[in-house]
Amino acid sequence: MPPRAGVFFALEGCDGSGKTGALAHLGEVLHEVTGGFLPTREPGGTAEGQAIRAMLLARGAHDWEPQAELLLIAAARAQHVARVIRPALAAGRVVMSDRYVGSTLAYQGAGRGLDAAAIRTVHALSTGDLWPDLTVVLDVDPEVALARGLARLRAEGSREDRFESLGLEFQRRVRRSFLDQAASAPARHVVIDAHRPAEVVQAEVAAVIRDFLAETRSA
Ligand code: TMP
Repeated sequence: MPPRAGVFFALEGCDGSGKTGALAHLGEVLHEVTGGFLPTREPGGTAEGQAIRAMLLARGAHDWEPQAELLLIAAARAQHVARVIRPALAAGRVVMSDRYVGSTLAYQGAGRGLDAAAIRTVHALSTGDLWPDLTVVLDVDPEVALARGLARLRAEGSREDRFESLGLEFQRRVRRSFLDQAASAPARHVVIDAHRPAEVVQAEVAAVIRDFLAETRSA
């Protein structure tokens, strides 16, 4: 396994929290401080990961058992980490993944009831236990997030609806899990209030990353 020289960020939040919009702007904003920012996402990030994403998320997709869902996500992540994330980190790049293991703990753990310890074991096996240096959580009330998420899907004519149709109670457990994960490892998480306008949230995400990189590099 190559050594890590770069910095690995994850961006997490409920469906409709504004992650994807925030990440789209970061490349431009952070180019000069990162010298080659690499945005990526899960499930996805590789051709194999995209194929798994379609199996999990496509409208009318199969009805997976939680355990099967966990293993499919882990398979996508194994490809993503080995083929994209670790090589980029070894080359000294700054990587930000739109969702990572925090989502697995939130959705498959708190949402679908799988044991967190089992999720961590699967994560260790599939990634060589690669955890983000910092996870940025965009925190939003699921009622607001769900309305935003559904509006976005309709506007995009998206073919994905599997996870977004999980409902409010499920998204509440997901939100609680992200906040609990942040509270239990505060040095590795930053929670951003994502009820505010997108530009404000995006500027704050960029500032958090700049500050973290400045601290890491001066350490
Ligand atoms: P996205 O639309 O933000 O890309 O997320 C796709 C869906 O996949 C989202 O509803 C959350 C779900 N998901 C999981 O359930 N577990 C995971 O580990 C990941 C990465 C995503």
